[in-house]
Amino acid sequence: MNPVAFIAAKRDGHAHSREELEAFLGAYLRGEVPDYQVSAWLMAVFWRGMTPEETTALTQVMADSGHRLDLSAYPHPVDKHSSGGVGDKTTLVVTPILTACGCTVAKMSGRGLAHTGGTIDKLESIPGWSGDLSEERFHELARRVGLVIAAQSKDLAPLDGKLYALRDVTATVDSLPLIASSIMSKKLAAGARTIVLDVKVGAGAFMKTHDDARRLAQTMIAIGKGAGRQVRAVLSSMERPLGHAVGHAIEVREAIATLRGEGAEDLRELALALAREVLEAEGMDPARAQEVLESGAALEKFRRFVEAQGGDAGVVDHPERLELAPEVWELRAAQDGVVAAVDALEVGLAVLALGGGRLKKGEAIDLGVGAWLAKKPGERVRAGEVLARLHHRGRGVEEATRRLNQAYRLAADAQTPPLILEVLR
Ligand code: URA
Repeated sequence: MNPVAFIAAKRDGHAHSREELEAFLGAYLRGEVPDYQVSAWLMAVFWRGMTPEETTALTQVMADSGHRLDLSAYPHPVDKHSSGGVGDKTTLVVTPILTACGCTVAKMSGRGLAHTGGTIDKLESIPGWSGDLSEERFHELARRVGLVIAAQSKDLAPLDGKLYALRDVTATVDSLPLIASSIMSKKLAAGARTIVLDVKVGAGAFMKTHDDARRLAQTMIAIGKGAGRQVRAVLSSMERPLGHAVGHAIEVREAIATLRGEGAEDLRELALALAREVLEAEGMDPARAQEVLESGAALEKFRRFVEAQGGDAGVVDHPERLELAPEVWELRAAQDGVVAAVDALEVGLAVLALGGGRLKKGEAIDLGVGAWLAKKPGERVRAGEVLARLHHRGRGVEEATRRLNQAYRLAADAQTPPLILEVLR
């Protein structure tokens, strides 16, 4: 295999065969092709795209780079994945709801990508919690707890792990075939029967338009159905961040509050909508989702899950143990009005500037920095009231405060657009 010829083929707009993808990416996984050649290829894919057949082949090569797990022996094996958003802590709410309803949620998640947060980084803000699991341990937790969340490892979709980290720092995240194959390779490898995809649309999402998001959803549904899975997709707005919190520890705090029945309405609405899709596809009663949230059963499942993966389960009763960066900067309203918009991309970039995301591969990130959006779109505010707070340690504050300022738009009056735009089944 000649890596230069392979890169040139994509640069010139040709399609790769499955064998060619296997040869190039297999060599990358074995350390025989360096990051710089794969980065060049990713950028060529970004510009040239891939045919549906190529995207499916890439997904299969990535899913087969580790083991494919068989979860068919577990009750209702289900999974959920987001295409990436700002303040998107939905997994932390949906998965315990589904487990409390009797499903087995054994899933693989990712770290932050570009300006969006990742579930694994967020959960690592819980002291002791780890998503580095062997295949054996993954099965053991699926069986014993009914909820397990793993990072990509040498056993599970290792190629996605490597490509994901490289895309994050080479401006090659927002490519339909790369997102579809990244998400679906993890879903196929983890082995769930039913998968619900939360496909984000808008300023803070990788898909900026409804049409592009629909195309991404349809591509992923086709890949999943082709592999014999039930797949549904919920298209949801990422014009504004989800909930009040954006960051890591601060988002886990908000997820726990939501599981206690105290969280933001948009987060609760989306989490319940996603859970209902899964339950319905599994032939279960969708009304159970709300019941287990309100009874506290989902919160108890979250507690068990944290403990089982080595985390301090005390954070469930004492979320203040999830440490936030000590310095606080406040954005106040310059005039009376209604919050007309909170630009999700600007908020995501503000948290990235504070050290909450990576600019280099493998870089350590600050899990304590973040934003608290006290006022959300549609809320009326008085001049001088706090709109939002940044938790920081001094790094990147100038850029972050400028971005947060730009993110908020006040008007005399405003309508809040719908959160859920479409469901594809
Ligand atoms: N989530 C993933 O797992 N991969 C992507 O590329 C985007 C979101």
